[in-house]
Parts: sequence; structure tokens; C-alpha cells
Amino acid sequence: MNQNQTPLLEAVTELIETNPAYFRIPGHRLDKGISPRWTDKVGTAVFAYDVTETPLTDDLHSPEGAIGEAQRLLSALYKADQSFFLVNGSTCGNEAMILSAACEGEKIMVARNAHKSALMGLILSGAEPVYVLPEVIDAWAIQGAVTAEAVRKGFEQNPDCKALFLVSPSYYGVCSDLETIAEICHSYGALLLVDEAHGGHLYFHEQLPVGALEAGADVCVQSMHKVTGALTQSSVLHIRHHGVGEAALERIAQNLQLVQSTSPSYLLMTSLDCARYELAANGKEMMEKALGLAEYARNKIQSIAGFRCMEGEWLDQTRIVISARDIGLTGYALEKMLFEEYAVNMELADYENVLAIVTYANEMEDMDRLVAACMDISRRSAGQAASQALYQKNACPPFPQLPQQVMTPRRAYFSDTETVRWQEAIGRTAGQMIAPYPPGIPVIYPGERISKAVWDYIEWFRRDKKHIHGADSNGRLDWVKVLAKSTKQTYNT
Ligand SMILES: Cc1ncc(COP(=O)(O)O)c(C=O)c1O
Repeated sequence: MNQNQTPLLEAVTELIETNPAYFRIPGHRLDKGISPRWTDKVGTAVFAYDVTETPLTDDLHSPEGAIGEAQRLLSALYKADQSFFLVNGSTCGNEAMILSAACEGEKIMVARNAHKSALMGLILSGAEPVYVLPEVIDAWAIQGAVTAEAVRKGFEQNPDCKALFLVSPSYYGVCSDLETIAEICHSYGALLLVDEAHGGHLYFHEQLPVGALEAGADVCVQSMHKVTGALTQSSVLHIRHHGVGEAALERIAQNLQLVQSTSPSYLLMTSLDCARYELAANGKEMMEKALGLAEYARNKIQSIAGFRCMEGEWLDQTRIVISARDIGLTGYALEKMLFEEYAVNMELADYENVLAIVTYANEMEDMDRLVAACMDISRRSAGQAASQALYQKNACPPFPQLPQQVMTPRRAYFSDTETVRWQEAIGRTAGQMIAPYPPGIPVIYPGERISKAVWDYIEWFRRDKKHIHGADSNGRLDWVKVLAKSTKQTYNT
């Protein structure tokens, strides 16, 4: 296929050029009705592309024209059998994957470092999750890869799992051995579903880890907005058939309609069409640039006193994970200093680290500002480590063991609940998820017993006023929803 085309961009442009008397939604009438407060700052041109379904611009939910063509070009680029534009982020792709793979009463294996959208998929589908734990990388206190051994063991114990859902690369860029894992899944007739939200760029440079589709995944989702140039929320889902789970794969198109808007944004979809074009035309150079910039900064930061960067052949080298604990700084403190004092915005922080996502759209100046800020922080801290000793070894509790699953997330979600003080939650069965954010990985799912270890872990984030999804409307976790005592709690006990 001719990757030089951008069919959706052309179709919307053609519509605009007819200079239509416009009586459709959206009501802002191409570029005329947007608040001047906004257009004074950003201009008007882009708003003309915020259109809707017309005979020229096709329909995402029944694509027969420009959108269908744009999706086929996407498939061809990623060597997928079928690809879909997503306008509700990878979130809706993960939901649709899980919803399609396993329904009520069926089992699905889920990596426990899955993004909270996996839980949403479980609530929608009613499937019984069996969890597989990722390794912990002690030196960086983060969850790493899901090993092939863990997956094999999981299937030996649960050969009836319909699919495995895992995240690779992780937020931190850690990749799992998907080739071996795909073989294991397929030998059990199970689908490999990969949340590749952070990995849409892996396919364009040999120095990057292998992409999920190349490794043998049956389905993957990619947030094209995270690193590959599309607008926020714009993601894609790809299918590649391996002769397993065919009925489930067929359900995906239908289930995407369940989780996506009936008014998909043409700005988002056009941004996907154009991002695909750029990757096809310039993907290698784009990744070369990102890799070069990241390597440059990593090497410099490694040589700064008290700073170190994560390395490993399993790492997406465009991610820079930085720790300054040797000069007494937690990741949280470092992120705050970088943001407030140097206007250097990191993607996230945890107790140990900060994370920089480097893309082709960064410039050397960005890298120099990051490096210079780290050097300055290191210099300022020289000789003051004791007074600045915010970091304390083992202060952040280790990842807790898997909580006991009392009932499926869906059953718990729809059960009667009561609200109790957080201090009284130990031993109760959660009626909600609790996920420190970012990275948005639930520590407790609805239907799981809140053990003392889980409580202690969450309490650490709560006490420190960290951002928690599942907190009260005031942003704190003073109260928590647990299952009412009258709810019959029999499953898996
Ligand atoms: C691993 C992972 N999966 C899925 C998502 C959701 O992606 P989106 O923001 O595109 O909905 C995120 C968001 O950060 C994520 O980190």
C-alpha cells in the first residue's frame, strides 16, 4: 500500500473546501463558533477539522471510505491483519480486548501490574482473573517484566485461561520476553493480549525491543499519543491471527462500539492518520533521534555525583529512569525540584525514581536543561546530604503479596457496599479499586480482601498525601467502600 497517502486528512480537507452551509454537529460550525478567548491564543485553522460523519468523511463505527482506508494503511505499516482507530485512548482498547477474550465464568490471566483499564475490562466482562506477578527490580524498586516462567506456571495451574493480558513495555520501559510468552499462550490455545500503550514506536528501529505484534501477540493496543505524535486520547488496536481464539477476535470490532463514543473526534482520528504517515515516512529517523537524545542525557546524568540511570537490554532506551537517592533525594523530591525550580517536567515520580520519556520531538536543548538541572541539584546537595536526607532506605513498603480474591471484580462492583473509615478497612472486602496515580496500577481490586500488608502499603501513599485514584471527592482516602456484611462472600474462600 502507498503509505504516502493520508486519506482521512484528504477527506476532511475536501469537505472543508466545499465551503459547506453547515447544519450538522458540532455546533461551532467549523472554525467560527469557538470562543475568541481560545482562538486568540491558538488561531482558528485547526478547528475546521473538527467535523463529523458525512459521505466524504466516513464513519468510524462502519468504515467504508476514508477511515477504512486509513485503518488499512495502519495495518499494513504494522503488518497486522486488522487495525482500529481508538478515540478513548488505550483504555478502551484494553477494555475491548478483555471483554472479547473472556466472559462471565471464564478465566483470564492478568499481569498484576496492569493499568486500571484492565480492571475496567474485567468489570465489564465478568471474567475470573488469575493473576501473574511481575518481577520486582530491587535496585530500582519498580515492577519489571512478567517472566515466561511465571506465565508457564500460571497456565500449568490454570490451563483453561482463555487469554493472558500483560503490559509491555511498562511505564518505565521494561519489556517482557513476548516471543516465548506468545508460544506458551498459543500452546494452551490462549490469546496473548498486550497492552503496548507505551510501545507504538518499537517497530521502527532495531535498537528498540521487539514489538508485541512482531513477537507473536494476537492483539495489542498502542497509545499513539504517548510517543508517536498523535493527539491525546488517540490510540490504536491491532489484531494478528495465529489460529487461536478466533471467535474472541471477531468480537473485538463489536465490543469497541460498546466502549467508544458515537461521536468520535475527527481531530483525533486525523492525527492518527498523520502520525501513521510520519512513522511510515520517517519512523527510523524519528527513533534514531529519540534514541540519540536519550543516550546523550543518560551518559551525562550517569556521571553526575549522586545520580544514576537504569540500564538493561530489556529496556526501551528512550525511557530514562533516574535516581538521586545517593544524595538523599526521593524521586518525589527530585521531580518537585525539577518542576518548580528548573521548569523541567518529568513524566512521573515514585519513591526512588523519576522518569523521562524522550521522543523524536524533543530537542538537544531539552536534554541539556535536564542534565544541567541534575548537575545543579547535585552541586547544591554536596556536603548537605544529611540535612537533606529525605530518602530513607526501606521507607516505602515493598509491593504487597497478592490479596485474597473473594469474588470477581464484576460481582463485587455490583454488590451492596458500605462506606467505612479507612482505619477500619483491614480484613474487609474492597468494593472499589485503589490505585496510586501515576502509574494507575490498582493495588486492590474490588472483591479482594484488604490484608494488613495491602493496607500498610496504601496507607503509606495516603499518609504522604499522594494522588490516589479511588480516593474520596476531597482527594483523600478517609473513607473506603467495602462490601456490605450481608453480601454473600463465598467465591475462592
Ligand atoms: C500501561 C498503560 N496502559 C494503558 C494506559 C491508558 O492509556 P490511554 O491514556 O491512552 O487511555 C496507560 C496510561 O497511562 C498506561 O500507562
